[in-house]
Amino acid sequence: MSHSPRILIVGCLGQVGLELQRSFAEVGEITARDRDTFDLAEPDEVRSLVRSVSPDIILNAAAYTAVDRAESEPEIARAANAQAPATLAEEALRLGALLVHYSTDYVFNGSKADPWTENDSPNPLNVYGASKLAGEEAIRAVGGRFLIFRTSWVYGPHGNNFLLTMLRLGRERDSLIVVDDQFGAPTTSIELAKATRTIVDGVLDGQFGSDSDWSGLYHMTCSGSVSWCGFAQAIFARAKALLNGKTPEVHPILSSDYPTLARRPKNSVLSNGKLNSRFGVRLASWDTALDEVIRKLKMSQEKA
Ligand SMILES: NC(=O)c1ccc[n+]([C@@H]2O[C@H](COP(=O)([O-])OP(=O)(O)OC[C@H]3O[C@@H](n4cnc5c(N)ncnc54)[C@H](OP(=O)(O)O)[C@@H]3O)[C@@H](O)[C@H]2O)c1
Repeated sequence: MSHSPRILIVGCLGQVGLELQRSFAEVGEITARDRDTFDLAEPDEVRSLVRSVSPDIILNAAAYTAVDRAESEPEIARAANAQAPATLAEEALRLGALLVHYSTDYVFNGSKADPWTENDSPNPLNVYGASKLAGEEAIRAVGGRFLIFRTSWVYGPHGNNFLLTMLRLGRERDSLIVVDDQFGAPTTSIELAKATRTIVDGVLDGQFGSDSDWSGLYHMTCSGSVSWCGFAQAIFARAKALLNGKTPEVHPILSSDYPTLARRPKNSVLSNGKLNSRFGVRLASWDTALDEVIRKLKMSQEKA
């Protein structure tokens, strides 16, 4: 590419979007957009946004991510998670741009004992998972230069996430009940953005060969796995300073004791083998990545 790349970040104020803005700051000329300036659910707005920027790279971190609410708003979830990625893929193809898109472990039904690979058949249990699967399928049907990264249990120092919810509840209560029969890989927005940057750099440098050698779907999560309850315990073991010295008790419960509007998979651990072997990229283990986020939160608390 003779010029510095034009990069469009869609969903720039979400957890992943914020970290992508940081990671890609020096890569090229960034245009960052979120709900305040356009509606992902309106195909014409998505199309005209892409046409006005004419990007070389589209990083799509926008999505309808309210898993339970999606059960009662399937059309809105579908517009953002299936129709918008289709439009982005069509526009990327027209421009010859690279589209990077994120999908979810919730495309699987959780019935497998081992980590899920890209060759396993998706079978979502909820509306959110079905809408994200439709988005993946739409991008693959359009083709072109694309990377779909399926990830899981995303959290970080900002946004709406399990870690920040646990810290809030931990300040308010002496004990908590947390589901202990759903297993996954908590993955930080920081690790996702770093890995995305490494891979996009490699694609731009031609390290991975021609488009057909690298375009496709990859699992991208922190390594290892834990239940939500184990994750909560790990958070509280590290977060005393963030909770004024308190350590709330965490009691394991079954999913059946904590009914939610959307059903969730029991095992949604993803295998990262394809990502490792194709790009040589490995994300940190979930507990090392947790240490990093806790460290960042402590630093911001000290500064405040
Ligand atoms: N969070 C997870 O645990 C998780 C797990 C697996 C995969 N993923 C995937 O990872 C990607 C990034 O997720 P995230 O956790 O960073 O999500 P997030 O924090 O919820 O960010 C999504 C962003 O998209 C924006 N958005 C939603 N609907 C929109 C609309 N109609 N028009 C314009 N903007 C809209 C949101 O704005 P508002 O905040 O105003 O709605 C938000 O800023 C998504 O593709 C998600 O499906 C997430």
